[in-house]
Amino acid sequence: MPTDSRLPGIDGASNISGPPIDGPIGQALWARADAVLPGRAMFMTRSARYAGPGVQPGFIDAAQGCRVRDADGRWYLDLNCGNGPNLLGYRHPEVEAAARRQAEQGDLMPYFPSAMVDFCERLLRWSPGFDWTLPVKAGSDATALAMRIVRAARNRDKLVLFRQAYHGNNAEQSLRHERHPAAALDNLYRLDWNDPAGLDAFTAEAAEQVAAIMLNPIDQPSGVPASEASADFVTAVHRFRARTGALVILDDVRSGFRLHPQGSHRAMGLDPDLLCLGKALGNGHAVGALLGKEPLRAAASSILYTSTYIYSAVCFRAAIATLDVYERDNAFAAIQRAAERLRAGVLAAAGRHGLDLRFTGPATHPNVLFADDPGCARGERFAYEAARRGLLFHPRLAWFVSAAHDDAAIDEAIAIADAALAACA
Ligand SMILES: Cc1ncc(COP(=O)(O)O)c(C=O)c1O
Repeated sequence: MPTDSRLPGIDGASNISGPPIDGPIGQALWARADAVLPGRAMFMTRSARYAGPGVQPGFIDAAQGCRVRDADGRWYLDLNCGNGPNLLGYRHPEVEAAARRQAEQGDLMPYFPSAMVDFCERLLRWSPGFDWTLPVKAGSDATALAMRIVRAARNRDKLVLFRQAYHGNNAEQSLRHERHPAAALDNLYRLDWNDPAGLDAFTAEAAEQVAAIMLNPIDQPSGVPASEASADFVTAVHRFRARTGALVILDDVRSGFRLHPQGSHRAMGLDPDLLCLGKALGNGHAVGALLGKEPLRAAASSILYTSTYIYSAVCFRAAIATLDVYERDNAFAAIQRAAERLRAGVLAAAGRHGLDLRFTGPATHPNVLFADDPGCARGERFAYEAARRGLLFHPRLAWFVSAAHDDAAIDEAIAIADAALAACA
């Protein structure tokens, strides 16, 4: 997210000369939403307004596979994937059947559901090397819990995060958009991404106080090119741990299941002490998890952590089914292949129209931006022209590909992108 208080799209003027994508029902919903919701706080990057006024449909009422339907009844091919969670396809039949079976027995009940233990065991089998797991409802919960556990484990207050990284919705995890009490951020160091020398230099300066480094697999702020962690940087993170005793937290909430079938740390060559998961884990059901190693079990046990809906059984059954289908169908390979075809096809179309469009970050969830388009005005136009033709993607946030994007869907996406690029050229 941008670090200043202005949010493009939400605060900006429209770059779009054509009619808004929303039909009459969507437009009426905006008027009603603005009356009952404090817009900026709630809307932020998850609002279609962050794509630019009139660029994307504001309200989506149905989804199936890789397609979604807006409030006015218009269907689109979707490359947002619910901002990541849709891994296997919206309303995947096996995931939904598992969720439905559990819902018929009960969802939130007293004490623990047995589904919770089944989920924890299944998750630990998914990525060998971790010894315990704590279920949560959201990515922000997983990262917040990790931050508490490392501080308890090391009896140190400070954390190292990287400059533009977003880790969740509390003061320490997010970037400054509001007035936080100064003390809320006193214990954070924000260092430069992919700067091994900077991290080495910092080791001597403040290392004794640092409980952990928390990093994402990719530096992927919105609206700017994404960059993957270099091998030298990963080595420097390991070196920092060896020299200082600080722990390593990998925030795999966004990239999880789309960079490596068993966790992004395996693609990066990173050996994290804690792994945070969310988004794609439940294929759209609200479930996340923190995975940890044996030496941190005692610190994890010392934290008071509870919340009413953590113990809901339906999302655990959905997540187990998601992992089963993902592994059985080798969904990772399918997503990777579809994503590479999409990237090649869209780049070729941009080249034909003389446009310098760039995919940065991994093909499975890239930032797709025009060169020399810092405010994303050109990107907004591309997203708008695509939406008019039935393809949704966000001009500032990552595109996401799911296992439901089969060859026909990718061909269709490329053809629409081609026509939209022609309209931009
Ligand atoms: C890298 C990263 N970490 C944490 C979060 C927070 O997850 P949630 O929105 O589920 O709380 C996000 C959400 O976008 C994210 O992208």
